[in-house]
Amino acid sequence: MSTSRQAGAEIYIGLMSGTSLDSVDAVAVTFHGRHLTIIGQRSHPLPKNLKKDILKLCQPGEDTLQLYAETDVKLGELFAEATLLLLAAEGLPRGAITAIGSHGQTVRHAPPDQNTIAFSQQIGDPNVIATRTGCPTVADFRRADIALGGQGAPLVPAFHEDFFSDADSHRVIINIGGIANITSLPPSHPCSGFDTGPGNLLMDAWCLEHRNEPYDHNGDWGAEGAVNSGLLQHLKKHPFFALATPKSTGRESFNLGWLNRQLAKYSQPNQLAAEDIQATLCALTADSIADSIRTLESAADEAYVCGGGAHNRALMAYLKQQLKGLPLATTATLGLHPDWVEAVAFAWLAMRRIHRLPGNLPNVTGARRHAILGGFYTV
Ligand SMILES: Nc1ncnc2c1ncn2[C@@H]1O[C@H](COP(=O)(O)OP(=O)(O)OP(=O)(O)O)[C@@H](O)[C@H]1O
Ligand SMILES: [Mg+2]
Repeated sequence: MSTSRQAGAEIYIGLMSGTSLDSVDAVAVTFHGRHLTIIGQRSHPLPKNLKKDILKLCQPGEDTLQLYAETDVKLGELFAEATLLLLAAEGLPRGAITAIGSHGQTVRHAPPDQNTIAFSQQIGDPNVIATRTGCPTVADFRRADIALGGQGAPLVPAFHEDFFSDADSHRVIINIGGIANITSLPPSHPCSGFDTGPGNLLMDAWCLEHRNEPYDHNGDWGAEGAVNSGLLQHLKKHPFFALATPKSTGRESFNLGWLNRQLAKYSQPNQLAAEDIQATLCALTADSIADSIRTLESAADEAYVCGGGAHNRALMAYLKQQLKGLPLATTATLGLHPDWVEAVAFAWLAMRRIHRLPGNLPNVTGARRHAILGGFYTV
């Protein structure tokens, strides 16, 4: 991966606000061939009230159209603020930015299913981002893929393929955000990828409930507990794990309500210590990733983790153990820090939109064909 910024190169901003609701990630990046240069990055805080409203919108049945519309605008303002602070910190004039790629905040994801209507809703009004920043903005990346019968997710494998694939080695990229997804990059075969299930979101929810902390720092609390194998097997009965690919998931399927219902079914009240449940949730994330890697058509040679889960030492240790000898590192080894991979991927998707190149991989999402993803918003 290159380290120098090329004169006259197009600069893109990637904005990512993931399922974990931890922060808005903003990066400024240039792409040159199969190389990229990060010019600057910013992790921008999400105000508590906004986070509360988003969580409300993520709960089927409790939303109102008014709250949806207002939060859409408020998030657009926040994404613009994150961008403007990044531009100021890096001394970048707005005119230097070719486009912003904003993923938006997913508030509802309903992938194709025979009995329901498929849709995926991201908010954070791109009109607000474009007018406040003065930068052309690309957003709404998922819906063209869904309109073509695809899952609309995951979208990052195309970027992983471009930057992380290797001619000799079968690499697997593991993104552990709120939800976890993998990308398989076998040399000289098409890449594949899918969501594997929960990443951090169940651990985060349990930690907030019992420790009043948004996440289990380094996984230390969970590491004090013991994995309960009976409960682990019970949680693994979630129907998502047995689904064939293509598949994707979200907060609708894995959340505290679901976890509490499973605990009530599985155990007597207070039978298990809270830290044992945390350890078991950590194992659930690691096991479902490792099980997914084992289902790949050909054996992987090396695995690289990105996303916030890379900071969870207990999770990384457990995953290493479950991968049984498969070399495991973070994407930092491949030249891209694990915290910025997703935001860079949306800067890359904006670049693909500007150059009218497809952004989805039908092999991954199940869409009928390749499509140019995202709507274009100018000022
Ligand atoms: N030091 C740490 N120890 C343990 N967990 C951490 C640490 N730092 C970050 N995390 C975890 O990473 C999460 C954030 O990860 P990330 O930003 O990749 O997820 P996301 O925003 O949900 O993205 P995605 O779109 O991939 O779901 C936090 O909620 C937390 O669970
Ligand atoms: Mg995040």
